[in-house]
Amino acid sequence: MSNNYSKHTLLKSPTLFSNAEQASLYTAKQIAELILEKQKQGLPAVLGLATGNTPKKVYKELIRLHQYEGLSFHNVVSFNLDEYYPIGSENDQSYTYFMNQNLFSYIDIQPKNIHVPHTDSSPDQITQYCLDYESKIAGFGGIDLQLLGIGRNGHIGFNEPGSSFDSTTRLVNLDSITREDAITDFGTLNKVPHQAISIGIHTIIQAKKILLLALGERKSEIINEAINGEISIQVPASILQTMPQVEYVLDNEAARLI
Ligand code: GLP
Repeated sequence: MSNNYSKHTLLKSPTLFSNAEQASLYTAKQIAELILEKQKQGLPAVLGLATGNTPKKVYKELIRLHQYEGLSFHNVVSFNLDEYYPIGSENDQSYTYFMNQNLFSYIDIQPKNIHVPHTDSSPDQITQYCLDYESKIAGFGGIDLQLLGIGRNGHIGFNEPGSSFDSTTRLVNLDSITREDAITDFGTLNKVPHQAISIGIHTIIQAKKILLLALGERKSEIINEAINGEISIQVPASILQTMPQVEYVLDNEAARLI
């Protein structure tokens, strides 16, 4: 589907690295620099955080910077992109669990500043829960830096193909490709939830800076489509082509087809 969004005329080239390690170190450095800059200004650094395999090395480096180079996260406020629904936060496939295991347990972020869109609410209360999540982000003045991965179907967060570019935080149905990809985590397809709570595409593109990190050959086709293809809700990440604050951070394998 085409629409009235046009490609940003000054589109920057992707930032390329020879391997996943280098791309991840660069990404962590961007995040650390923002945190330090905000500390100098006496302000919170509002981070939008992602899950999945892609950001794991970024988080590892942030932990190293905290443990060995004195980087403090005391001024960091975090908002995660998404969470399966329903899922208990103690479930080891939940994104709450993932974030604790891969980052939060090892840094000095204040627990009150951590936000992962998890809810025990009944389905009729979710709309309000999602509105509240949006209000909290807005209450901190919006996201300063959003870290994104990309799904093989072009999703960002859990904004699956067909998601409106105007979407905000809401309950979504998961695409079949997304559920298949999650089998490696859940074991079997019937254990993979059918739904998730995800911040919207509109929410994401309001971020002041967006780093889309893609690593490995598996992402090469969708990265090419997202960067060079038509802007379409069928490839949710394609909307980022129009956004000057977006930086694509790729390793050589993910960049193979661009
Ligand atoms: C999940 C997450 C996305 C993430 C995507 C890619 O679907 N909800 O935010 O970007 O997976 O995952 P991976 O980095 O493991 O390829």
